[in-house]
Amino acid sequence: MEFASAVRNRVGRALLARSMRDGIDLRKLRYLPDSMTMPLKRDGLDPLPDLARLRAEAPVTRLTELFGKSIWLVSGYAEARLVLADNTSYSHDLRQFVAMDGRAGSEQIGGLGMTDPPTHTVLRRYLTPEFTRQRLARLEPTIRAVVNARIDAMKDAGPVVDLVDQFAFPVPFEVICELLGLPVEDRDEFHRLGVARFDLAQGGVGIFSSAAHSRDFLIRSVAAQRDQPGDGLIGDLLREHGDELDDVTLGGLADGVFLGGYETSASMLALGTCLLAENPDAMEMVRSDDAAASRVIEEMLRHLTVVQVAFLRFARHDLEIGGQQIKAGDVVGVSLLGADRDDRLTPGADRFDPARPPTRHLAFGHGMHRCVGAELARMELLIALRALAHHFPRLQVTVAPERLEFRKIAAVYGVESLPVHLYGGALLDRGA
Ligand code: HEM
Repeated sequence: MEFASAVRNRVGRALLARSMRDGIDLRKLRYLPDSMTMPLKRDGLDPLPDLARLRAEAPVTRLTELFGKSIWLVSGYAEARLVLADNTSYSHDLRQFVAMDGRAGSEQIGGLGMTDPPTHTVLRRYLTPEFTRQRLARLEPTIRAVVNARIDAMKDAGPVVDLVDQFAFPVPFEVICELLGLPVEDRDEFHRLGVARFDLAQGGVGIFSSAAHSRDFLIRSVAAQRDQPGDGLIGDLLREHGDELDDVTLGGLADGVFLGGYETSASMLALGTCLLAENPDAMEMVRSDDAAASRVIEEMLRHLTVVQVAFLRFARHDLEIGGQQIKAGDVVGVSLLGADRDDRLTPGADRFDPARPPTRHLAFGHGMHRCVGAELARMELLIALRALAHHFPRLQVTVAPERLEFRKIAAVYGVESLPVHLYGGALLDRGA
């Protein structure tokens, strides 16, 4: 086992050296060293034991060196919050590691999360009004309709359905399409393009090419709405700021919203359902009323922390965190999962406890890049999980947890499929 891992690391380093021959370009990266992928892996719903060990030894740890820079992992809650709140010491601009010359606009990586002020400030100012309570209230009936349609479809298809396929992905997909204002006839194509984006198993190559395709799609969609702006976010921004925003910038913003809101909400719905199925008390709390359900959802967000590591930060100058000396140019990854499972945040942090007193968490990040869609995500989770608990209070997962196919290495953790019996019938495959 150890020998195999040593060989893999050695081959990996050789591949890495080859990918860097013409300069640093993450697009060519086909291999990520084991120490870097550890925070992106789990055992079921829980972090690997290595993460707790690292956090106990040093909440800020040097994982490895890449492109001549140290790669640091921050896994303690207090240290993570400090890094996330520090708006001046780090850059988020990943573009310094990706060759851009001569590439089309749609291939330029970016999005809010990888942008620094003043650009970040300007772009974020366009988006925030789209997520006010008023605008979200406009979406609420649509979310209810989308959720109810999926519940009816599951009743027709049941009693055993794949909850990922039938509910967890379709609900946020339809919600984001409605939010952006994408025409119904374009949605199948958009769906196809969006699926492969978050799978890190292929290194840098797969991620960047699939990202370019769906961004391209959104840029075309902006161009098509320029003459006749639609009802959603794209149309709103074209009406209000059409002169300032070109197609690529607005397409990129829309893409950032899609990137931020789709997979994350889908994973929370699927993994959150796993937790409810295993915890009848939590299921009952979600079924009973909005206030109790909201408390359970906050604990779910903390416990699951599906965005495992925050956007990478690059130190602008030498600095110290958690007693470690970080050099200018070093890369700092913040394990949001590690932070949210830190006993210094709340005792017994590894336990999912629906009765836990309200606890702060970093599932939506913190600081200037904090999730712009957090309130939308909460509303979506509340409506969707309450409907699920109302219609299927005895829902059971039909396979044992160790047989579920969880994502192996992923920026956003999730499960590929979740077979459930809607009415808690015989546990068909469990233990088999
Ligand atoms: C449960 C679902 C969600 C979770 C767990 C989540 C989590 C996060 C996290 C951890 C960050 C990054 C913080 C950082 O690295 O500093 C983030 C950023 C972001 N999220 Fe979410 N998110 C969710 C849903 C959404 C939704 C529904 C939308 C929009 C429709 C959205 C849009 C964004 C955007 C645009 C950013 C970038 C913000 C910036 O850089 O200024 N997210 N989200």
